[in-house]
Amino acid sequence: MGIEIVTHQPSETVSLGYKIATHARAGSVFCLTGDLGAGKTTLVRGMAKALNIKTVVQSPTFNIMKIYFDGRRPLIHIDAYRLEGVSSDIGLDEYIGYESGLTVVEWPEFVAGLLPNNATTIEIINLGDDNRQITITSEDKDYLESLNKWLQY
Ligand SMILES: Nc1ncnc2c1ncn2[C@@H]1O[C@H](COP(=O)(O)OP(=O)(O)OP(=O)(O)O)[C@@H](O)[C@H]1O
Ligand SMILES: [Mg+2]
Repeated sequence: MGIEIVTHQPSETVSLGYKIATHARAGSVFCLTGDLGAGKTTLVRGMAKALNIKTVVQSPTFNIMKIYFDGRRPLIHIDAYRLEGVSSDIGLDEYIGYESGLTVVEWPEFVAGLLPNNATTIEIINLGDDNRQITITSEDKDYLESLNKWLQY
């Protein structure tokens, strides 16, 4: 099952991230795919907002992982870009799916072996200008249904 939506400016992608995180169950893992500059981190900013995290979410250019603890649940933000071709046995699996938090992974293909089968996948395609096609796929039908209802408003 999936949901497809097109955003036309960064703030719409932030708002989608907000809705995605608001409905998420604790322990959920989100895999964010899309080219450089597609809008993955932009979407994570909306997720952080939904958790009431005040710290500004930045592209973790120098970090592989950052955990935000200042919201109503932890947000584990992993950017695996620089793990391409590197052994992923660096203990990240301890944090992915951390039970009380939400985990979001940019460049999940580089840590594929560490990700749970039931992860929600979010694919962002740059359609040119400020348009982005975002496809959310999950096995969790209840989650997708409640998210979809909210998106209809
Ligand atoms: N509809 C849109 N949604 C999201 N970002 C958009 C949109 N339109 C334009 N942008 C711009 O695209 C860029 C997205 O950057 P962002 O850091 O979120 O990408 P990313 O996918 O995380 O890249 P990277 O792989 O380098 O981490 C920003 O400069 C943002 O302003
Ligand atoms: Mg990014």
